[in-house]
Amino acid sequence: MTDMSKGPTPIILDTDGGVDDALAIIMALNAPQLDLKAITVVAGNIDVDQAAYNVLRVLNIAQPHSPPFVAKGCEQPLVRAPFNAAGIHGADGLGELHRFTDAAGTARYPKLPLQPSNKDAIAVLLEAAHTLGERLTIITLGPLTNIATAIQRDAATMRRVGRIVTMGGAVTVPGNISAAAEFNFFVDPDAAQVVMESGIPVVLVGLDVAMKAPLPRHRVEEHLQRYPTQVAQFIADCTEIYMAFYRDNEGFHGCYVHDPLAIGIAIDRDLAQTEQVHLVVETEGRFTTGMALADRRDRRDEANNPPNVDVCLDVDTERFWQMFDELLWQASAVSY
Ligand code: RIB
Ligand code: CA
Repeated sequence: MTDMSKGPTPIILDTDGGVDDALAIIMALNAPQLDLKAITVVAGNIDVDQAAYNVLRVLNIAQPHSPPFVAKGCEQPLVRAPFNAAGIHGADGLGELHRFTDAAGTARYPKLPLQPSNKDAIAVLLEAAHTLGERLTIITLGPLTNIATAIQRDAATMRRVGRIVTMGGAVTVPGNISAAAEFNFFVDPDAAQVVMESGIPVVLVGLDVAMKAPLPRHRVEEHLQRYPTQVAQFIADCTEIYMAFYRDNEGFHGCYVHDPLAIGIAIDRDLAQTEQVHLVVETEGRFTTGMALADRRDRRDEANNPPNVDVCLDVDTERFWQMFDELLWQASAVSY
């Protein structure tokens, strides 16, 4: 269970502004165990400007008492060309919200004059690492470009960070964006490898556990029927295209909640069964770029390749869904 003896854990969320990111942000805002200091934004599901706007849109809907500031970061991966998931999360990265109107025909999500802070995400990460040190948990929900850039700028300061809980990778299961790679690692494999070899404690929340937490569409619609609030309506609207993608491509009308699961495991590490391994990320594979390769051989050479990552291999889905319901649904049941 989470140790609350020292109060809520200060966190920074680093996100690429997609649909499951939005659900994760709402959970983090409602979690008494977490103290969300800032949200840093990176290019991934969608370009960094749109991703930042999406984060601000979520905060505008969720209306937290003390909203975290939002800082834009890297516009493209360290080495590779930009690659996005607009075909999965919608052209705006958030389910194409412009499509929705209310009964009177007015836009349900009108364009808002939302601007991120003028702080640079990398400076925000380094400042938090410096001031909070090992109390800080960074939870990453997108490609690791911002984190890797902060490490490259000042590795010693970043090594003060307590841990990084990363949604990414696929160790014992196939990838999603390619046979070998999960999307966040595929988009910026070089950044992922910089983080894996940084010496900062990493908890990897990969597809190995994310694929064990499917959210069916009917649960979203049933919740909205029961609690017709603005947040519940937003959850139903922003997940519509994302869930249709899984219906049309994987025969399951719903979605995997990769990023919310990272929040859950950051809150309660005991949700997951993990294995300490030496893990590298392929950066130059002809077919396997972005692959997360863990050395799980019986005769692995731990002297030369010591474990660097705690890989989540199983998850208590029943307890996760209880946490998800509490931090997403019940919170969204409060009408704003
Ligand atoms: O592979 C799933 C991950 O890639 C999630 O974080 C999703 O939002 C995308 O960023
Ligand atoms: Ca994401």
